[in-house]
Amino acid sequence: MLAYHDATKHHPHGYAKGPGRLDWATQPDPFRRYEGAAVVSLLLGGDEPEPLYDEILSPGAVSPRPLNRRSISAFFECSLGLTAWKSYRGTSWSLRCNPSSGNLHPTEGYLLAGPIEGIGATPAVYHYAPREHALERRHEIGPAVWQRLMQGLGDSAFLVGLTSIYWREAWKYGERAFRYCQHDAGHALACLRFAAAMSGWRLRVIEESGDADIGRLLGVDREGDYSDAERENPDLTAVVTPTDRPLPATLTLDPDAIDAVAGGAWFGRANPLSGGHVSWDLIDEASEATEKPRGLPMAMAWQPRKDRRSEVASAHMEGESHGGGPTARQIVLQRRSGTDYDGETAITAPRFYGMLQRLMPIAAASGRPVPWDAISWPPTVHLFLFVHRVADLPSGIYGLARDALKVEELRAATRKEFAWQPVKNSPAGLPFFMLMQTDCRHAAARLSLGQEIAADGAFSLAMIAEFERPLREYGPWFYRRLFWEAGMVGQVLYMEAEALGARCRANIRGTGMGAYFDDWVHETLGLEGHAFQDLYHFTVGGAVDDDRLTTLPPYDAAATRT
Ligand SMILES: Cc1cc2nc3c(=O)[nH]c(=O)nc-3n(C[C@H](O)[C@H](O)[C@H](O)COP(=O)(O)O)c2cc1C
Repeated sequence: MLAYHDATKHHPHGYAKGPGRLDWATQPDPFRRYEGAAVVSLLLGGDEPEPLYDEILSPGAVSPRPLNRRSISAFFECSLGLTAWKSYRGTSWSLRCNPSSGNLHPTEGYLLAGPIEGIGATPAVYHYAPREHALERRHEIGPAVWQRLMQGLGDSAFLVGLTSIYWREAWKYGERAFRYCQHDAGHALACLRFAAAMSGWRLRVIEESGDADIGRLLGVDREGDYSDAERENPDLTAVVTPTDRPLPATLTLDPDAIDAVAGGAWFGRANPLSGGHVSWDLIDEASEATEKPRGLPMAMAWQPRKDRRSEVASAHMEGESHGGGPTARQIVLQRRSGTDYDGETAITAPRFYGMLQRLMPIAAASGRPVPWDAISWPPTVHLFLFVHRVADLPSGIYGLARDALKVEELRAATRKEFAWQPVKNSPAGLPFFMLMQTDCRHAAARLSLGQEIAADGAFSLAMIAEFERPLREYGPWFYRRLFWEAGMVGQVLYMEAEALGARCRANIRGTGMGAYFDDWVHETLGLEGHAFQDLYHFTVGGAVDDDRLTTLPPYDAAATRT
C-alpha cells in the first residue's frame, strides 16, 4: 500500500496516472439498479418535530423515533438521497446528500432489516436506489436466520451496508480513483450517522467483520448477478439501533448466520453502467491488498479513552449549543460544494473554534460525539490549516491535533521553525496551535493543484494522517479506514459550513479537495518519510454560486409523498 500510495501522488512535474482525457461515450451511469428485484417506494419529507442541527450531535439529545416506513424513508432521504437536479445548456445531473469526487458517486447503499410495515413482511436485504428513492428487495431472510444474525445487537436493530464501484471514479481519475472511492465511503458513512442521529438512533460500523463476510451479506459476491455489469466492492456494514442506549462494546456478526443469510434465492441482476472499460490493474491490486480479514487487532479494540484535556474541549462544545438555529434536515438537504469563493468573507474566531471542536472525536464520559461514535479506532487524521480570513486570528499555518496525545509527535515530525504555540483565546483543551504567521493564500492554492478555492475561502486545510505506523500495526486494510476518517472529517466540515451560513445568514460553504500535490505539502510542512501523509484537503468560506445553472427539485414530489 505504501507503493500504491506513492504511485498515485500528484507532482508538479506529473500527475498520477489517469486516462488523460474523458471518454464521454463510456461515462458510467451513476445509478445502479437491480432489474427484476421488487421495488419498494419510500416516502419523502421528515417527521415532526424536526431536530435542530446542534441537537443531533450529542448522542441521546433526540428522543428515538420508532422504526417504521416513514423513519426508514427519512433515514435514506437524508443520507444517500438526491437533493437536487442541476441543468445547464441541455445537460442535467443530480446532486445527493453525500458528496462525491467528480460527482461520480461510486458508493452504493444497502439495508438489511426485519419486518417493517409498508416495506416488507419478512426480514430482507435491500439495495437503495437514490434516483427513485426506493428500496430494491434483493433477498428474503428467514425469521430464525435473521434472529441469529442480529443476536446481541439489540431490539429492532437493523444493518446498513456500503459498497464501492471503482470504475465510476477510475473512468475519470485513473489510478488515484481508489483513494477517492474511500473518501466517498467516509463521507457516506458520516451521512448515515447524521441521518440516524436525526431519528435519535445510534449507528456504529461492525469493525470485526471481514470484507468477504460483508460481500456475502450484501450479495455483491454473486458473480452471476453481475455478468456484464461492474462489480461492487464491499466496504462496510454498520448496525443501527432505534434507541438512544449506547451500543455494546463489541459488535460482531456470526459467520454461520452470514452464510445462512447468503443462501437461498436472490432477486435482480445488476445493470451495466458503461459500454466500455479501461482496466486499472493498480486499483485491483490496491483493493486486494487492503481486503480486510475477519477479526480486529487488539490494539484497535473499542476503548472509550478518557483524556482530561479533551474532556474540557467537549464540555465547552456542549456549552456552545443553544436553542434555535437551523434544523438538521435543512442543513443535510441544502449542503453543496462551493465551486467558487469570494476572497472576502471572514468568519469570527469563536465560530471557527466551534467548527474545530466538532472535529474532535474524543469526548467526555458520555462517549464520542456524533459522527465519531460510528467508528472506534483511535483518531489518526490531524489538520494543518491555512488560515486566511478568521477575525482576530493572524493569517498563517495552524495545527489541530485531533488527538491531544499526538501533539509532541506532530511537533517533532514537522519543520523546526514551526512555533507550536497554543493559540490565545482558543477554547481550553482544544489542541490548536499557531505554527507560523504568514500570508499563505498563494501556497494553499498552489499545493491544492492550483485550485484558487483553497486561497479564496476563510481557511483551507490539509488532513495529515498518521500513516506507516497504523498500516504496519493493524494491517494494510487500515489504508481504507484512514481515508474514511478523512472523508468523515470532510463531511463534518461540510455540515458545519452550512450551519454557520444558516446562523449568520451568509452563503458559507465548504468543498472537499482530493486533488493536491502530496509530497510538496509534505515538504512545506517538513514531513519526511511515510510516518505522516497528506490524505485530503478542504476549504471553507463565502461561496459564490454559479447562477448560470438551473436548479430543480430532487424528486417528483407527487410520486412518493403521502
Ligand atoms: C473526495 C472528494 C474530493 C473532491 N475533490 C474536489 C476537488 O479537488 N476540487 C473541487 O472543486 N471539488 C472537489 N470535490 C467536490 C465534488 O466535486 C462535489 O462533491 C460533487 O461535484 C458533488 O457536488 P455536491 O458536493 O455539491 O453535492 C470533491 C469531493 C469529494 C467528496
